[in-house]
Amino acid sequence: MKGFGLAILFFVSVFALCFFYSSAVDAEDIFVPNYDESSVPTYTLPDPLMTIDGKIIDTPDQWINIRRREILRLYSEELYGFVPDSSCGQLYYEETESCDEALGGVAIRKQGTLYLNWPEKNPKVNLLLYLPAEGEGPFPVFCGLNFEGNLTTSTEPEIFGRAYRYQNETRESEALLRGKYAQRWPAKTIIKRGYALVTACYEDIVPDFPDPNHSLGAWPLIESYVKKNRIPERVAPAAISAWSWGLSRIFDVLQTFPKIDESRVAVLGHSRLGKTALWAGANDPRFALVISNDSGCGGASLYRRRFGETFEFMNSRIYWWFCENSRKYNGKVDELPFDQHYLISLIAPRPVYIASAVEDGWADPKGEFLSAFYANGVYQLLGTDGIAGANEWPRVDTPVGGVIHYHVRRGGHDVTSYDWERYLDFADRYMK
Ligand code: GCU
Repeated sequence: MKGFGLAILFFVSVFALCFFYSSAVDAEDIFVPNYDESSVPTYTLPDPLMTIDGKIIDTPDQWINIRRREILRLYSEELYGFVPDSSCGQLYYEETESCDEALGGVAIRKQGTLYLNWPEKNPKVNLLLYLPAEGEGPFPVFCGLNFEGNLTTSTEPEIFGRAYRYQNETRESEALLRGKYAQRWPAKTIIKRGYALVTACYEDIVPDFPDPNHSLGAWPLIESYVKKNRIPERVAPAAISAWSWGLSRIFDVLQTFPKIDESRVAVLGHSRLGKTALWAGANDPRFALVISNDSGCGGASLYRRRFGETFEFMNSRIYWWFCENSRKYNGKVDELPFDQHYLISLIAPRPVYIASAVEDGWADPKGEFLSAFYANGVYQLLGTDGIAGANEWPRVDTPVGGVIHYHVRRGGHDVTSYDWERYLDFADRYMK
């Protein structure tokens, strides 16, 4: 009897080892990034202008009332989870600091706390707003989330607000954080061009790590919204949807500033926050212009190219950004009912700028161009110039396009003054 038990144990162990070995091999294939253009597989992209049941969309009305809704729903159910609406939470904004001579006198600075669940004082989002000191306004504004806290976006000593991950750090580290990303937020240049700038830290909305009990930031609030609206868990908002929801709540507050022109609010973001800006722009048509900086996989780039970061990598290593339902496409991206040109299409006919960096292979710069390119049909249907005839991935540092604009600049994954100069020129064209 003892011998029989040992034999079973032996076979079970061999079986388990084989199983784990083979899944490790599969997983390897999926996780190894391809950086070789000649190894990009042939793929067929789904057509944004054909409905799920095969009907061709050929009027703006059909796009707006049928297909756009269908695609928005597909994204909510199959990738990001539903974005809560404004009934989630109760906003209250309190100004905590103001200075009429900021940035050497060119700007008015305002800092304040946005409570997302008033009268409870938690969670709170620190807002930093710069307005041009010159002129009456109302001014167009760039609105973007930052990674490590407002104090990292400016060298001004009065700026406060650090990311959740730094909440327990000492004063010394504050010195390291202050202005750490100031070059990504060139407030003075933006102000001098006649725009306002507003930013907040994305982790003030929900922290960027798996929080299975949904106990931090706005998660408890979102959880009760999900329950109240009977949203199934597998399509409940994941982190990118939560951050997008936060951007819309910042928009709500901007509407209360007489010096801000609510019809000219551009939303922008870098990397994961570029994905977030695109998704916020898709959901909230109040954003008049959308900018994606190096947003890559899950943002502007096409999954089916399998270049750089893969869907599988993203959706297993950073799975909390996407809804549970999306996991079923791991290893099966060709079965996704969309690719990311659909996400760009959802922004139509509003101006959208997709920017890449040539050394940022992980984000697949060419794939970012192609999704801009394949969104063109929808933009044209809606009567715009779309990508304005740009039909191939342009040379480095050569912006192309019309209301869909694109550039790939020299250098790596970052937001640089080159990017900002282009965004300001683009905004001058559509928001001035
Ligand atoms: C990782 C992730 C990317 C993301 C980036 C970022 O590299 O794989 O998808 O864009 O982080 O947000 O910095």
